[in-house]
Amino acid sequence: MSREEFEFERRLRRRKLLGGGSEGGQSPPPRVMRRQPIITIDGPAGAGKSTVSGELARRLGYRLLDTGAMYRAVAVSVAAAGLAAEDTEALRVHLARMQLTSDGTRVWVDGREVTGELRTPEISELTSRLTMLKPVRDAVTPLQRRLAADGGVVLEGRDTGTVVCPDADVKFYLDGTVDTRVRRRHAELAQRGVTTSLDAVRKEIERRDEQDMTRALAPLRKPADAIVVDTTDLTAGEVVQRMLEAVERRRCCTRS
Ligand code: DC
Repeated sequence: MSREEFEFERRLRRRKLLGGGSEGGQSPPPRVMRRQPIITIDGPAGAGKSTVSGELARRLGYRLLDTGAMYRAVAVSVAAAGLAAEDTEALRVHLARMQLTSDGTRVWVDGREVTGELRTPEISELTSRLTMLKPVRDAVTPLQRRLAADGGVVLEGRDTGTVVCPDADVKFYLDGTVDTRVRRRHAELAQRGVTTSLDAVRKEIERRDEQDMTRALAPLRKPADAIVVDTTDLTAGEVVQRMLEAVERRRCCTRS
């Protein structure tokens, strides 16, 4: 073996791309590490994703990655910079410089925690416009993939099983009738002290469904291999129970 070939093999072994003999012949061959499972939860607004994803992650002992919170954080930073929600050169420059970090549920932009600023109506509106833009998705998706890469994670969003982690181990798609989703969102808002009519919430849900499902980039779609859970007549506890059973079934089938 030439010196070059020897060096090449040594580099591959170091990067664990090649099994077999080890340097110096003393240590055991590198172990192939299987990462922990990746679970994705997608679905329309009001289907109960945020309520059940946290509980599912907690019961499994996994991390939660709230992908919507990351898009909302981008909106906070775009609003603070006074930029328009259009694909402009200024927006591209801003995104290229922006340092977005997340521990799954809390989010920082340029070192400042913005978690408490994510859920105002203005930020919701701006986020929904920004998520249609390619530079925005191109800035956020790779970060979400990196945060999910080690596994042991539940991702919640609109495109987590289709675009962010198409090779996820278990994919869920939560759905529910418009009536149910409207009632849930209305109750959720009331709990946060926001008073609004059922009619206004229905319009908002229908607008978001239309926008999420018909946008050109990463539209909300049922992944072909998703487990669909219709949450209409189920409590949050019942939904989590079904999801845990589905994860367990998948584990049984893939265990060797
Ligand atoms: O889930 P949420 O309401 O926090 O999401 C905020 C916005 O971001 C909403 O308009 C949907 C959008 N979103 C998205 O386009 N892709 C994701 N993976 C998550 C959220």
